[in-house]
Amino acid sequence: SIEQITVRTILDSRGNATVEADIYTACGFGRAAAPSGASTGTYEAKVRPARDAVENAQEHLIPSLIGEDTRDQITFDALLRELDGTADFSSIGANVAVALSLACAKAAASSLDLELFRYLGGAFAGRTPLPLGNVIGGGAHATDATEIQEFLVVPTGAADAQEAVFANAAVHRTVKDLLKKRGKGCGKGDEGAWAPRIADAEAFEIITEAVGTVSDDMNVEINMGIDVAASELFDGEQYRYRDGAKSPEEQVAYMADLVDRYDLVYVEDPLAEEDFDGFADLTDMVGDRCLICGDDLFVTNVDRIMRGLEKHAANCVLIKPNQIGTLSDTFEAIHLAQSNGMETVMSHRSGETTDNTIAHLATAFECIFLKTGAVGGERISKLNELIRIEELI
Ligand code: PGA
Ligand code: ZN
Repeated sequence: SIEQITVRTILDSRGNATVEADIYTACGFGRAAAPSGASTGTYEAKVRPARDAVENAQEHLIPSLIGEDTRDQITFDALLRELDGTADFSSIGANVAVALSLACAKAAASSLDLELFRYLGGAFAGRTPLPLGNVIGGGAHATDATEIQEFLVVPTGAADAQEAVFANAAVHRTVKDLLKKRGKGCGKGDEGAWAPRIADAEAFEIITEAVGTVSDDMNVEINMGIDVAASELFDGEQYRYRDGAKSPEEQVAYMADLVDRYDLVYVEDPLAEEDFDGFADLTDMVGDRCLICGDDLFVTNVDRIMRGLEKHAANCVLIKPNQIGTLSDTFEAIHLAQSNGMETVMSHRSGETTDNTIAHLATAFECIFLKTGAVGGERISKLNELIRIEELI
């Protein structure tokens, strides 16, 4: 049972304060930190400013958690919800909730001398997810760069996690060379993707070339995907692009065209977070050859995933534990999606720490992809952990 809990504020990758929690039991220790988003969905659980959240937790929350059994995750998470008393963790803060919830699982795993992926996934957890990494990006993650938030690659033909991780990094590096050659050298966005001042069409062109080069060099099949984060482009009526606006119907057609033109295997948030019907139209058109994934649409929330299932809105759910606040809720979301034939993708946030928990969650819960960038310390902490996990399987 829990003997001691420490919560503190630490730095995240944007230089902002975030929450980290340590949980000690007689024979276990768990530590986890909360990430944070920039293009957050309206229906996500609510964070409290980190310092204020930590103070509040120390005073009002932690005393009630001492003595709890870390191996009873469901009860621990239910207690967090009860102590919070709101539907969206706006009282204690979803940042405090997710850090404590994940630290609880890690303390339990440690007390049993098990790796987290083994504790949560059991004896049959046997496959690491493929890494899905962004190599060019803009939107809310960089100023004056691409309009589509993330241009992603996934090495679908990779033999193992190591080859997969290195393939994505090689594409990232090759994209830099190609940008330089075109006189479009640039810095990086929040997630480590290149943030050039180019049109989306040129980004597709450059990545297509980079993927071709790396595929040949490494002899591995690599595919492209995108995260449009379309809620950020939507003004309530239309999708605003630099060279004009698109109606929701035109946006669906544009997305379907991109899928076919660039053989996209993954499209996240192609439409705004309220548009279940637009999602359904697109899924109907291209869902047989492409994953249509809801991030802001579903916010890792079973009620919204249920609505998506009824409307056949998507065939994939993005999973971000901090969108919903606890590991139990995260598991419920994954379970609901997978038992209804949808794929799941475990994801980082644009504001991250070196915490590598999501590599374990993605493996334990059999997510098809782990979406966590391609380079950068807070991204490679997850990617390198994936390589280590695969060694243990
Ligand atoms: P966020 O963006 O972490 O800034 O919300 C990531 C995403 O949209 O997937
Ligand atoms: Zn997204």
